[in-house]
Amino acid sequence: MSRKRFENKVIVIPGSTSGVGKASAVAFAKEGGKVVVSGRREDCGEQVIEEIKSFSGEATFVRADMASRDDIANLINETIRIYGRIDVAFNNFGKHTEAIALIADYEEECFDAHMNISMKSMWLCMKYQIKAMLKQEKGNYAILNSSSISGVGGGWPFISVYSIAKSGVDSMSKSAAQEYAQDGVRVNSLGGGFFDTEMIHTYFEELAKFHGITKKELDDQINKSIPLGRLATPQEVANTVLFLCSSEASYITGASIIIDGGMSSKYL
Ligand SMILES: NC(=O)c1ccc[n+]([C@@H]2O[C@H](COP(=O)([O-])OP(=O)(O)OC[C@H]3O[C@@H](n4cnc5c(N)ncnc54)[C@H](OP(=O)(O)O)[C@@H]3O)[C@@H](O)[C@H]2O)c1
Repeated sequence: MSRKRFENKVIVIPGSTSGVGKASAVAFAKEGGKVVVSGRREDCGEQVIEEIKSFSGEATFVRADMASRDDIANLINETIRIYGRIDVAFNNFGKHTEAIALIADYEEECFDAHMNISMKSMWLCMKYQIKAMLKQEKGNYAILNSSSISGVGGGWPFISVYSIAKSGVDSMSKSAAQEYAQDGVRVNSLGGGFFDTEMIHTYFEELAKFHGITKKELDDQINKSIPLGRLATPQEVANTVLFLCSSEASYITGASIIIDGGMSSKYL
């Protein structure tokens, strides 16, 4: 029987109560990983745990709000208290909604909220995760940070606070990759296009309103702009996440891996 890819590995996923994080948590557990599921919504977190337990997988929910440094520190401490170590961190949370405006029209509070959640908290997660990994034996550790093609590929209009924060995520992932490569910690970022999740549909509704068109009209325009003609399923994204966090990707670090159905291939 073939060995499961994440047997005896501990995986922490801040932002795994829905969408890509949830699909990844389930996929890691199916591959033998011990998964710490996290987010603010306890009911959604418990549903993920139930799903994982239904196939006798191993998982625990730890509530954490990424707006709180104490919650971030507690999430990492709890992971180590419960499972004794961290092998993989998939920092998947991000703030995408309430982001649509012209750059001169943002309120300072909105700018700060996006930088704090999508960028600074990503750094805080890495800070505690790397420190924990460095205390363990030298090994094959992986950190994957959720970015976006709007961050990898330069500034996007009407959503610049998101785009700026995601550029920061790419940049800090590359810096960390260089600093910790010799310690056996690989750090990459995932540059997503459009994934079929709660977040994107809320964003599309806001964007359609901003442009004065219907959500259906916007959906059609978006699908036409994607060479593969559709959004990615959370499972398709999870497949890429697992590959990047597995030993099959042992020579990949400091990379922004794009998963966008070909959308950015015209200009990147
Ligand atoms: N969907 C897309 O098209 C797309 C494209 C490119 C990149 N991305 C990125 O992919 C990642 C996942 O998004 P998704 O599409 O899977 O969206 P989603 O279904 O809305 O999931 C977002 C996850 O992040 C968590 N989260 C958000 N704010 C948080 C906070 N303050 N504290 C703790 N957890 C928080 C949510 O948990 P709670 O609500 O329970 O806190 C949820 O588990 C994000 O970083 C997003 O920017 C998405």
